[in-house]
Amino acid sequence: TRVAILFGGRSSEHDVSVMSARNVFEAIDPEVYETVLVAVTRQGEWLLVDGGFPQSVPGDGTKITLLPGGRGRALALPISGPAYEITPIDVLLPVLHGPFGEDGSVQGLAEVANIPYVGSGIFGSAAAMDKYQAKCLLAHDGLPVASGIMVKRTSDIDLDTVARSLSWPVFVKPARQGSSVGVSKARTAEELHLAVESALQFDDHVLIEEFIEGREIELGVLEAADGTVIVSVPGEIAPSNTHDFYTYEAKYLDADGADLTVPARISPDETQALQDMAEQAFRALGCEGMARVDFFLRADGSAVINEVNTIPGFTNISMYPKVLGATGIPYPELIHRLIQHGLK
Ligand code: DAL
Ligand code: MG
Repeated sequence: TRVAILFGGRSSEHDVSVMSARNVFEAIDPEVYETVLVAVTRQGEWLLVDGGFPQSVPGDGTKITLLPGGRGRALALPISGPAYEITPIDVLLPVLHGPFGEDGSVQGLAEVANIPYVGSGIFGSAAAMDKYQAKCLLAHDGLPVASGIMVKRTSDIDLDTVARSLSWPVFVKPARQGSSVGVSKARTAEELHLAVESALQFDDHVLIEEFIEGREIELGVLEAADGTVIVSVPGEIAPSNTHDFYTYEAKYLDADGADLTVPARISPDETQALQDMAEQAFRALGCEGMARVDFFLRADGSAVINEVNTIPGFTNISMYPKVLGATGIPYPELIHRLIQHGLK
């Protein structure tokens, strides 16, 4: 079986994707799968990579495009570069985070090319990527979420009027981004204006969200090829005191940015409640294959779903492979199951 790992990509999580994909590549058993590496540049070119996993996405190389290959196959067709060799691909493994990778767009391309792919389909991907729409769907299913207001670049909402209706602080987030890129906390109307400005640099839709005081607990969901779902033990993230919240810096740039505890030290009842909600959230958004469901757990034991990630990080510090590992599914087995789910 030939697996094409897609990594890099056009989103601001390009570097995170490279870190994730390196680990995924290393966890694939070469005796079971043949791996084809497809690097996506920041400009959106697809390049075939030879000779092992690169340090970063190369600036140039053999550009390819995907063509339907018939019967659940695609063909990686070179459109430039030295070699003219068509590579058949049996399954796509998008290890892309954020827009144009995690949001249903690459999934749509795979559907059009009639090629199996790992993870959620078009709808689940798009639903989970948009933090506001996800909130609406989760709330509709009776799941607890923070209240939020969506502001569009083109709408003429008066932020000062919005500010008067808020209790501070609030979180301001680009609606369709990951890794906390463009996210900030606002404590005054003035800060709200600045926070919305900075979020608008990353998306035309911005979410203004109620601040929830609570511990950050994350769970992994893994769906088997037969549709049965495993929900992992919970993991806890404690951003270090030097970071205001779990920012991009705390995640990927500061080696001591956060402490991860797996399993999280919470009660069996709380664990069970979070596991039930994680599975319900996975289904409410129409996710498939995998997702990481992120919660805030309040001191009184109640929880709020923060978000659902359909292509969670696979970097060295990432929670998804850790919580699944602690649930008895080692990294190579996890990737194997994901590929098998994609092939079904
Ligand atoms: N968006 C990052 C990669 C995550 O969810 O882990
Ligand atoms: Mg996210």
